[in-house]
Amino acid sequence: MNIRRATLADIPSMMHLDRHSPAAAHWTQEQYRQAFQHEGPDRLLLVAESSSGILGFLVALHLAPEWELENIVVAPTSRREGIGKRLLNTLLAAANETNSSAVFLEVRDSNAAAQTFYEEAGFNHTGRRKSYYTDPAEDAVLYRLTLN
Ligand SMILES: CC(C)(COP(=O)(O)OP(=O)(O)OC[C@H]1O[C@@H](n2cnc3c(N)ncnc32)[C@H](O)[C@@H]1OP(=O)(O)O)[C@@H](O)C(=O)NCCC(=O)NCCS
Repeated sequence: MNIRRATLADIPSMMHLDRHSPAAAHWTQEQYRQAFQHEGPDRLLLVAESSSGILGFLVALHLAPEWELENIVVAPTSRREGIGKRLLNTLLAAANETNSSAVFLEVRDSNAAAQTFYEEAGFNHTGRRKSYYTDPAEDAVLYRLTLN
């Protein structure tokens, strides 16, 4: 399994993964395309690839001096194999290389798996946004990992 930078050609695989993960953020093809326009210092787009195809991806935005983790998805049949952790560790390495002070994110209140995943990685619960999500309406739980 290899973690590499995503390319435009990976968009169909990324959309396939997000459509099969109800808890993930769902972006349109146009939103993915726009994300690539800001790739480089501002955006980190990663995929986890095996011989059988793309098994996961991560999208993060650099809002110096912090990073926002916008989405992370691993294929349902490949979860609990450490792929999410490898994707997240690659973001944390980029955050350290850019002397960043923190990585932050929000997650659905009902998404216990992702919350445990972030807590295991050292993120702290920092707050909540009431009815932040729609379809279905739900609070967002805020997490932050302070670096250095
Ligand atoms: C959250 C997600 C990316 C984690 O990916 P993953 O590859 O399964 O995670 P890992 O295998 O690297 O897990 C690392 C650790 O996180 C914790 N963890 C991950 N999934 C968990 C779960 N379902 N229940 C409890 N703990 C979990 C465990 O401590 C795990 O270590 P362990 O397996 O040795 O016990 C994956 O569950 C996913 O794609 N979920 C749907 C999309 C989503 O919710 N994205 C987040 C949007 S904010």
